[in-house]
Formats: sequence, C-alpha cells, structure tokens
Amino acid sequence: MPNGRRIFALRALALPFLCACLLLAPAAAFATEDSVRNALAKIDCVRGTFKDYYRQGEGGDPPPDYAGRTFALSQNYPNQLPPMESYPWLKIAFKDGGPIDPRAYLQALLDYGLEGNVEVDFYVEDNKKRKWYGMPWMDWNTEVASDWPGTDGREFVHGFTHEFDSSGNTLSTLQKDFVDTWSGAYFNDRAGFGIGQVYCNPDDPKPGALNPDPTGRNNMANGSYIIKLLFSTVTEDQLPIAKNALEWKAHVFVNDDPRWRNQGPLSRFERAIGVVRLIQIDVAVRDDRSATGWLLGTFGYDGNAKGSSPWKRMVPLGLQWGNSPKATFAETCSGPNGPCDRKKLTEQWINEQAVKELARPPLSFNHLGYGGRLAGPVDNARASCMGCHQTAGFPSVAILPEFSANGALLKLDGEKEPHTEQGFRLMYYGNVASGAVFSDTQLYSSDYSLQLSMSLQNFISLHCPQRPQEASAPRPSICAQLANWSSTQKKAIDDLLIFGAPGPDGGPLPKSPDKEERR
Ligand code: HEC
Repeated sequence: MPNGRRIFALRALALPFLCACLLLAPAAAFATEDSVRNALAKIDCVRGTFKDYYRQGEGGDPPPDYAGRTFALSQNYPNQLPPMESYPWLKIAFKDGGPIDPRAYLQALLDYGLEGNVEVDFYVEDNKKRKWYGMPWMDWNTEVASDWPGTDGREFVHGFTHEFDSSGNTLSTLQKDFVDTWSGAYFNDRAGFGIGQVYCNPDDPKPGALNPDPTGRNNMANGSYIIKLLFSTVTEDQLPIAKNALEWKAHVFVNDDPRWRNQGPLSRFERAIGVVRLIQIDVAVRDDRSATGWLLGTFGYDGNAKGSSPWKRMVPLGLQWGNSPKATFAETCSGPNGPCDRKKLTEQWINEQAVKELARPPLSFNHLGYGGRLAGPVDNARASCMGCHQTAGFPSVAILPEFSANGALLKLDGEKEPHTEQGFRLMYYGNVASGAVFSDTQLYSSDYSLQLSMSLQNFISLHCPQRPQEASAPRPSICAQLANWSSTQKKAIDDLLIFGAPGPDGGPLPKSPDKEERR
C-alpha cells in the first residue's frame, strides 16, 4: 500500500502545521488553514479522463458539418490550494454575518466572475487572467426526475446542462408555452482544488475529501467562488426585456415541451443547434465572514437597463447570506401569493426597485421565493437560493420540502398552502454551516455545491447498478458505501417500529434483520 503510507507520512507532517496554526492564529481561524489543506492534499491524482459532453464518442459528437467550437471540460484541477487573492469583495466590511454594502459586494462578485471570461466566451481554459474549472460528470446528467436518464447532460457547444424548464406564463404573460433553460457553471481555482481532491481518483470519488483535513468541516476553502450563466430559449416576443440579450448557439432540444419529451422514446430528446439567450447570472462565494460561510446572489437581464453590452445590462436582483431560519411564511406573507413584507428576512438584500419593475405586467420576471426569500427568475418560485443549496451532499436528498418523502406524507402543497407545517418546512430554510450535512441521512456535505452532489449521483447512476454481465467487474468503493448506507438506513427505520416494545418475556423484541442478535 505505497499510497496509504505516503498519505500517512503527510499527515504526520501536517501536525506541526496544525499545532502552529492553533497557537498563532487569531481566534476566528479554527477553520482549516490553507497550509493544512495543502499538507493533507492528495497529490498523486489522475487528471484528464472525464468526458466533455453528452454521449461523447457514443453518437453524441458534433455532426461533420459543424464548424463551431466544441466544449472541453477544464479539468486539470490543482493538487495544491492556490493562494487567496486580494479579492475585491474582501474590501467590504461585514456586520452580523452579512456585508454592510450588499449591492457593492454583489457587483464585486459579478465583476470578478466576468473578468477574462467574457473575452473568451466562457471557454474558461483560455482565460488569460486566472484559472477556471468545470464539474466532472455533468455530461451524463439527470437533473429533473421525470427526464430520461442522462438526457440533461452537457451539450457540445458550451457544455451547458439542461435545467428546470419554465412552463407557460412563468416569465411573462406573453410566454404561452414552455421555454427551456440551459446553463453552465464555472469554478475558480480555490473551488477547483476541492473538486480535484474529491475526484483525485476519477474512478473512485471520495465525497469526504472536499476538505482534505478530517478534523475540519467538509467544505471548500475560503475564497472559493462559482459563477453560473443561465440561458433560455425564450424570445423577445415572449419576454420583452429579452431584447438585445446575449445570444449564443447551443445544441439544445428540438422540442421545448418536457411533457412531450418525457413520454419517450429517447428520440424525442433529439437535439439541434439553436439560439439561447442569457437571462440570469448566479454567483456564489465562500466567505468566512458570512453567517453560513456562503453568499449567493443573482442578476437578471433587462434589455431596458443602461449598459453598452448585454453583460452590463445584467441588473442586480439580490444577495443572500442566510435563510433567516426563524421567519415563518405567515410572518412574512399575507397569503399564498403574497404580498410579502420582508422585514424579518434580515439575512438577505433585495433590489426593491427591480422587484417592482420586473413584476410589472406583462412581466413576472420575479426573483422572490419562499416567504419572500431570494430565488432567481428561472428558479422554482417556492424555493430560495440558500434553501436548495444548503441540502447539497452525498447521498443527495430532496432540495425542497415538497419533494421529500416526508413532505408527501405531510401532504405539503407549495402552491396553495405554503404556510402549513412550518416545523417541517423551515428545516429547508435553515442555516446549515458550510461543510456540515443538512440531514442525518447524508454522509458527507458537498458544501452548498449542488453540481458536486449531482455529479456524484451521475457517477453512481452509471457505475453502481450492477448488470449481470458485469458481476465480476471491480466496483468503486462509493458503490459499496451506498449499498451499506441503504441497508443501514432501512434497518434503523425498521427498528423504530419495535424499539421499546416488550417481548413475551418482557425482554426486548429481536431487531430486524439480525433476529438472532438478541441473546
Ligand atoms: C429549486 C432549487 C434551487 C434554487 C432555488 C436555486 N438553485 Fe442554484 N442550483 C440548483 C441545482 C439543482 C444546481 C445544480 C445543477 C446545475 O447547475 O445545473 C444549482 C447550481 C447552482 C450553481 C452552480 C454551482 C453549484 O455547484 O451549486 C450556482 C452558483 C447556483 N446554483 C446559484 C444559485 C443562486 C444564486 C440561486 C438564487 C438566485 C439559486 N442557485 C437558486 C438548485 C437551485
């Protein structure tokens, strides 16, 4: 086990670092220091093996007459944590877990994410200013449960994945039919380090290695940053403020209606080159000063806004650093469809002017979610940025209370009765600390990165279900762990049915399934 030995040696090496840190660092620095992450980082990583796009080499490649550029995953993740820069957002002071000037903070986040990337159309490996990376395994992506497996995977022009579609009337009353959302996310070098640790061995991911320090929370390092571009097939006729939006070509579904596609067969998911328009940009940053350790913010495109390019016409909509976990729906909204006054939601900033302008008919380009919490225009209107993202982990769990098994049991209805069952729902609008799991059914946090938790799920979906002809093939250890997790969870739940029930002789009843275990 040469590998094991080396890692052990490295650990021993890290101890002096650790002790020195604890003695010298200011009180706030109990989080894992960079030096510790680096000393414990795996350095014998295999790079360059992940596919770039859906069914690459298996019939998904560009047709011979395609002359444009093809997406290549930026996957040469650094094995050592690149140092923090003097990021522009660090200049803005914090109070009570949030920035004192949220608007300036949000703008600083956008400017950083665009720098050097706009010039290269977000083919980020060409960025001259700094290095950027993508998430593995989004080529075979199953984002929406009713979609056919893998079909939401990356298209080959920009590497966009297919997301939650907007049904008629979602973005404006002029939008009569479904429009599809396609998006791409890009990770800075400090976030890329964490991804590279999880996928150090591309055939055997380790979800607990996001932070190589076993004594720390399983999080990305301070200064990790992600920008996500959301494009839609929506047109100016359907959404007037989409005029002069940034238009890119992408290899997208020929038919925009998921109800039709999902009936199958697979040929209904046919793709062709089409036009998509940039309508939303999301940003996320790890900042130790935040109440949760993360801040998430969003911009919406407004063709009427001032600005010499579509990038400059992206209007700041809001920023969240926590969910304000105590505020019930009834305390913030007067009815299922509002209006909501957001005074109790102290862990966010909302651009009030944009709320009014973007919700003026025919527009319903709204960006407020559960109880008035921040969500994006193309997001589920009964959710919130941090609500969905705090659930990220392995194994993955429902991102909304309505999607969970217990939510079904409680008969939650997000549309008509969002104010009920607050004791259950508000768990989904809590403040999970960066790097801690959301639920006790999860083994590892993926630190607010839903792409990372989906990536692991996508990996599993192709590696773990064993087909008879593959019975002798070696299986990644994550598959055995998942199988053990499943039987342990089932047993724990079954045992609850008899816990404390006296047997015929007054002793405990045998637990399932190890019936002989009792005496
Ligand atoms: C309904 C749940 C939901 C809501 C609400 C939501 N997201 Fe996400 N988000 C996701 C999922 C699922 C992914 C991963 C899939 C993808 O990127 O294609 C994701 C991906 C992202 C990413 C890419 C990085 C990553 O790995 O998570 C960023 C950044 C992001 N969202 C920011 C935001 C911001 C900012 C908001 C609020 C304006 C928001 N999200 C609202 C579900 C949600």
